[in-house]
Amino acid sequence: MSGIERDTPECYLRHHLHATGATMAHTLTILGLESSCDDTAAAVVRQTNGAPAQILSSVVAGQTELHAGFGGVVPEIAARAHTEKLDHSVEAALALAGVTLSDIDAIAVTAGPGLIGGVLAGVMCAKGLAAGSGKPLIGVNHLAGHALTPRLTDDLAFPYLMLLVSGGHCQFLIAHGPDHFTRLGGTIDDAPGEAFDKTAKLLGLPQPGGPAVERTAKAGEVNRFAFPRPLLDRPGCDMSFSGLKTALLRTRDGVVAEKGGLSEQDRADMCAGFQAAVSDVLAEKSRRALSVYLNDHPQTPAFAVAGGVAANQRIRAALEQVADSMGVRFTAPPLALCTDNAAMIAWAGLERFRLGHRDDMTLSARPRWPLDKLSPTMLGSGKRGAKA
Ligand code: KG4
Ligand code: ZN
Repeated sequence: MSGIERDTPECYLRHHLHATGATMAHTLTILGLESSCDDTAAAVVRQTNGAPAQILSSVVAGQTELHAGFGGVVPEIAARAHTEKLDHSVEAALALAGVTLSDIDAIAVTAGPGLIGGVLAGVMCAKGLAAGSGKPLIGVNHLAGHALTPRLTDDLAFPYLMLLVSGGHCQFLIAHGPDHFTRLGGTIDDAPGEAFDKTAKLLGLPQPGGPAVERTAKAGEVNRFAFPRPLLDRPGCDMSFSGLKTALLRTRDGVVAEKGGLSEQDRADMCAGFQAAVSDVLAEKSRRALSVYLNDHPQTPAFAVAGGVAANQRIRAALEQVADSMGVRFTAPPLALCTDNAAMIAWAGLERFRLGHRDDMTLSARPRWPLDKLSPTMLGSGKRGAKA
């Protein structure tokens, strides 16, 4: 193989597989399991080499009602519910896909980062399935699941710029390969989803807060309340959202003190103002991250968003506008694949499997697991679990 040949992705892959002794089946069918926060999920994804992937099934059992009385996810309750629901979710995913375990090439499972009890429940379940069926086991980074979603849904080629924005995470990553990410920046405190959830709580709206705030904001006046756009005055791609939450608390208390309570319109105006502030910050920081990315990768102008907050229509539209204005292809997954699901885990497992990666029974559950191993950790561990 000449040096030039080896530089093409196909040749690299052949060389890598040869070096690792791995075989690459033409068609792969992967079972994925996800249980790192408050959704128990199982899915089956199939891909024939060189063709778009197919999601044969994607089952998500939420736990919203179990945590509703606590104002947030209670890790012990979540872990117990995952233990109860994982088996059923796997059975349902296999049945809906019309396959049995013997048709599966490998079992992929979220091995972190996340709430440790839930991650452990998933890893133990996957190990049991792997041991019982003799199928290979693949540990998947939950963040890689989100970050690789545009390849599952839109067949996006590497490299691309990814904004991963969810309840526990907010970071700009350059995706170079299934296991190779470079972080350009991220939040220095709360994740935007967390801020949406807190906003909902402060305004007496249901959890998860993102969809509730987005719904309420529809009837709101964006400019009635002036919310800050944190860190826009500083260079770089880092973000901050905890000040926004404090601003919302002050605004709410101001209105309550003045009028004795909140009207529907007050709530709608606050939601609209808050959502606009988050959207503006994400848009402006995306513009900056794209400039940095395009400087190094002018030949591959692609920008993708993933994670629960990517389900927000205003934010999607704002990001798309930034990409359009810079001549960059924009990709956002369908709403069901923005929030946590196991199709993204099965897909990330499939990508790792094709590269020859396998785990064994020593696979451990990791509360923290940054995607970019070289960048220093940015955040502490919040209520929604460990962040990277
Ligand atoms: O990706 P995800 O399901 O879980 C994590 O890995 O965190 O994201 C959940 C987060 C929650 O904080 C939820 O409020 C937020 O995503 N979210 C939204 C919307 N839908 C979900 N935030 C804003 N607008 C939405 N429509
Ligand atoms: Zn997630």
